[in-house]
Amino acid sequence: MNLLNLPMATKRILTGMQSTGIPHLGNILGAIEPAIALIKEDEKNASYIFVADLHALTSQHHPDKQRKHTHANVATWLSLGYQPSESRHLYRQSQVPQVCELTWYLATHTPFPTLTNAHAYKERAEKPATINAALFTYPILMAADILLYHSTHVPVGKDQKQHLEITRDIAQRFNNTYGTLLTLPEPIIQERIATIPGTDGRKMSKSYGNTIQPLATAEAITQAVMKIKTDSTPLSDPKDPDRCAVFQIYQHVATPEQAMTMRNQYQAGGYGYGEAKKALAHAIVEKYRMPRERFAHYMANPALIEETLTKSEEQVRKVANKNLGAIRRAMGFSTLNTTD
Ligand code: ADP
Ligand code: TRP
Repeated sequence: MNLLNLPMATKRILTGMQSTGIPHLGNILGAIEPAIALIKEDEKNASYIFVADLHALTSQHHPDKQRKHTHANVATWLSLGYQPSESRHLYRQSQVPQVCELTWYLATHTPFPTLTNAHAYKERAEKPATINAALFTYPILMAADILLYHSTHVPVGKDQKQHLEITRDIAQRFNNTYGTLLTLPEPIIQERIATIPGTDGRKMSKSYGNTIQPLATAEAITQAVMKIKTDSTPLSDPKDPDRCAVFQIYQHVATPEQAMTMRNQYQAGGYGYGEAKKALAHAIVEKYRMPRERFAHYMANPALIEETLTKSEEQVRKVANKNLGAIRRAMGFSTLNTTD
């Protein structure tokens, strides 16, 4: 035990995903599957898996989409084998308002240039009219998500590396002021998976409309895969598998032997992109057959999703209250008198 009475032996694994679309292959291979594997490594691990619906508000203001995407997000975790329990949490960020309070405290320890240098803001800084203040402070809310539960391990895709660095920096500054109170998290980044390309060759992302959704129907998968952009190398010529999005995705959903076979076919020539796409669609449909059935079941039973979330959220709020109480006291505030 340390000062905060946190059990030291276990990992506290936390990750979140915005409710801005239906989870896609990039999310699943880059974040969800590695997180589930890490959580299952040791039954003493605690986990905090959440829908970043407050973050989603920086770019989406449709209540119906918010609900649909939140359910799809949760159904994806459940379908891929994440089972909530006393120590495995699954919740909506917006159901733990304590995170907003912590965001404010952390904002007072965040240097302004840290935010002007953050990628999400920088990418859009030339068009300031399209940016809201929440997008600008996005990294602070993310730091609060992580620090509120003293997360030790945060599995994310490579694109989130900078956010983790900002989180550690804010925690360090806070600790320098009030004593060692916050836990500095370790990012867990899948170097092997890196960034999964989308159908247009850019990073697969909900915001680019270039996704492949492995839990959708086989027809929808095939349709998306057929859209993948390839170059105009003639069928008879050898092709470079490492510069082709079809192969780049295939190697992560096929067996190593199948991937080797396709690599050789590319290099030998006489193998067309059409055939490679068919093999890719088939591999995705097969790999996710069981999760796809479960996903359809959850999506047809929203009450089941709500029930699962509500139960978990009650537990999470308790942890959040306790941890936030310690932070409030360290800052010279009193603990709130609530019955929650
Ligand atoms: P999106 O860009 O689709 O909106 P999010 O920002 O919600 O995705 O990301 C959720 C998680 O999935 C993050 O950990 C992120 O790093 C990971 N991720 C998103 N897109 C990809 C991708 N193309 N390849 C690998 N990981 C990804
Ligand atoms: N910013 C993350 C993304 O877009 C989502 C997110 C919000 C998150 N809070 C987090 C991820 C905390 C990990 C930990 O992918």
